[in-house]
Amino acid sequence: MLNGHGGNIYELSQRLGCAPSDIIDMSSNVNPLPPLTGLVEFIIKNIHAIAALPQVDARSAVLAFAARYNINAEHVIAGNGTTQFICAIPQALETKKALILGPTYAGYADACNMHNVPYDYLMTEESLDFQPNIDVLIEQISDHDTVFICNPNNPTGTLMLKADLERLCRFHPDTHFVIDESYLPFVNDSERLSMFKSGFPNVLILNSMSKIFRIPGLRIGFLIAPGQTIEKFRPFLLPWNVNSMAQTAVDYLMKHTDEADAFIDKTILLLENQRKYMAEAFEDVDGIKLFPSKTSFVLAKLDENITANILCNHLAADRILIRNCSNFRGLSEYFIRISLKTTDINRMLADKIINFLHSI
Ligand SMILES: Cc1ncc(COP(=O)(O)O)c(C=O)c1O
Repeated sequence: MLNGHGGNIYELSQRLGCAPSDIIDMSSNVNPLPPLTGLVEFIIKNIHAIAALPQVDARSAVLAFAARYNINAEHVIAGNGTTQFICAIPQALETKKALILGPTYAGYADACNMHNVPYDYLMTEESLDFQPNIDVLIEQISDHDTVFICNPNNPTGTLMLKADLERLCRFHPDTHFVIDESYLPFVNDSERLSMFKSGFPNVLILNSMSKIFRIPGLRIGFLIAPGQTIEKFRPFLLPWNVNSMAQTAVDYLMKHTDEADAFIDKTILLLENQRKYMAEAFEDVDGIKLFPSKTSFVLAKLDENITANILCNHLAADRILIRNCSNFRGLSEYFIRISLKTTDINRMLADKIINFLHSI
């Protein structure tokens, strides 16, 4: 069971005696914009679908996704969020030993632990703003048969270039590379940067609908891999793993491409402006350093006068939740992650943090 993740508005609201909706959640990395209005209306209109079982293997959703991105449908499966695939990877790939490029999302290590599969971490360096060094990575993959790479990475916000990833996958043809692209749609020109159509036999791509379309409650994600690899996952899928409303959402999103693309473009522009705003707001502030990010969240480090715990508790009292990153392997008790929201909320958060740092 995943513990200590972002987005735990339930625990905080219980502690404060308020409703979960009263919490400003800047700990969960979803799109700052509300879900598409047309999508919400479509789901409401189709709510009667819950009276019947959904397609057992979400076949229509798979076909719609494959058609939308012009890929072979035999190279795609749909799951209960990408989490379902992450949890199944060590078992489906019969991983002997994994390598995780960290600091990163704990789900990969949790999946290895779940199946008693040993793993190593290769940590990127704080002095390099956590940007991965591809030569070091190539060198460190020795007896590892599965490598987890989150791109862009959660929580560091770093992006690896496609050419570098291709070099890596070419260099180690017998190693499976799991590239988690959950946050890639937040990056400009993401289809060009994606490994989705790379055609490498040893690459598996995770594509989440949760983050970009702000529908984490629906639980829908895709795995894209060569047909042979996809077949290895089928025995581990539960029947009806994608619920009716999630399948309805995919149907809408894959067919209303102009609306979905416009939503993504609007999101990217908003995030670009908000990253710039936050970088400027904290530029000359003592006691906090923001790391450059390419996506929907920003990693920051506090100086030694104040821990993430102290700051998070201070903000929590005002019903604001940010991510305390002290439980990320490779980070310390001084790291926080801020999921960007709209201008007024980001400004309010920046003011609160700056005032608090000044008061110490
Ligand atoms: C990097 C990364 N991958 C995958 C997931 C799981 O997302 P989902 O199961 O909703 O697709 C998360 C959730 O926070 C994440 O941060």
